[in-house]
Amino acid sequence: MSNQSIKELGEQHVMNTYGRFPVAMVRGEGSKLYDGDGKEYIDFLAGIAVTLLGHANPVLTEAITEQAKTLLHCSNYYWIEPQNQLAELLCQNSCMDKVFFCNSGAEANEGAIKLARKYSAMKYGEGRHKILTMEQSFHGRTLATLTATGQEHFHKDFLPLIEGFDYIPMNNMAAFEEKADASVCAVIIEPIQGEGGVFPLDEQVAQEMAAYCKERDILLIADEVQTGLGRTGKLFGYQTLGVEPDIMTLAKALGGGVPIGATLAKDYVAKAFVPGDHASTFGGNPLASAAGLAVMQTITQDGFMEEVNETAAYFRSKLEELVEKHPFTEDVRGKGLMLALEVGQEAKPVLKACLEAGLLLTTAGKTALRFLPALNISKEEIDEGMQRLTDVLSQVDK
Ligand SMILES: Cc1ncc(COP(=O)(O)O)c(C=O)c1O
Repeated sequence: MSNQSIKELGEQHVMNTYGRFPVAMVRGEGSKLYDGDGKEYIDFLAGIAVTLLGHANPVLTEAITEQAKTLLHCSNYYWIEPQNQLAELLCQNSCMDKVFFCNSGAEANEGAIKLARKYSAMKYGEGRHKILTMEQSFHGRTLATLTATGQEHFHKDFLPLIEGFDYIPMNNMAAFEEKADASVCAVIIEPIQGEGGVFPLDEQVAQEMAAYCKERDILLIADEVQTGLGRTGKLFGYQTLGVEPDIMTLAKALGGGVPIGATLAKDYVAKAFVPGDHASTFGGNPLASAAGLAVMQTITQDGFMEEVNETAAYFRSKLEELVEKHPFTEDVRGKGLMLALEVGQEAKPVLKACLEAGLLLTTAGKTALRFLPALNISKEEIDEGMQRLTDVLSQVDK
């Protein structure tokens, strides 16, 4: 089916919540996607930091196919072997001890919020339930995670919000200390703000915050929905900051494209949850867990992260070359393969021109382009994508 006919059907029956481009993606291979009219795109977006092993990855495809032939779903009334194995791998490779599986980033953060409140209520009683988050943060679209999201424009049509959240400017220790009083049970950080514009949390501030939290038993929650699983050059973004969170949330890349999320916690925190406190019908089901397991087995292989860091250095150097070439571009920021290029003007028209030129990416804030390619993107795919970006920026130059 052509882009146009797919679009027409969608407009009739799919709810109008996304400002979609008039293109339908129908097939992918590595870091290339193809639309309904057969046009090829270089994918610097990876489904917004999801398809970390590229499209139609044979290892992931094989794992999902085998699991689908064996057992798709059975419910969390029973133990699920791939779920247990995935939990083990996640814990062995992070500072966490226990995992709760769900289906998305918002749900993983909901789990974290509930866990923090239960931990605090059990230990300190009522009234210590406030959660601090950063201005410009993004934590999801459910009511609690929307409230946690420190961006007013997401809130305005959905009032009243959930009670017990407050916001602090990022990288401002004094503002944090002022609000982190006896009513606060947790603070949520993003190691790098993703939707907020690719702004990294300062290492020193993160360490001071972690120490302040530890002294007062305020739980440090790392929302690693976008930064987790190799994206920042380390397996988890908190590892770039030299801090250990008490709770961490994952989703996006965890299933490499199959929906799965996770709330991870250190043992002493995880203990607050007992049977009946939290649940999800689909959470960590055999299919999603098999995908997660294939992803984790791949990215923890010897040498995998070294290659990611080489790719990231190459990708960044190509963006820096663009800054040299085009006077209106300003700087490159971010870590690993989570990068932004300031274009010094509205980024949306540039993004649209990139799509037309066969290049997929997204924006970071109003004036920057955001790059979240697959971790295994090839040098040739990077070169081709950068060529298309150069062509677009040269048009903007004129
Ligand atoms: C840091 C962060 N947290 C949470 C979410 C929400 O994830 P989901 O869309 O899977 O609910 C996102 C999505 O962009 C995110 O970037």
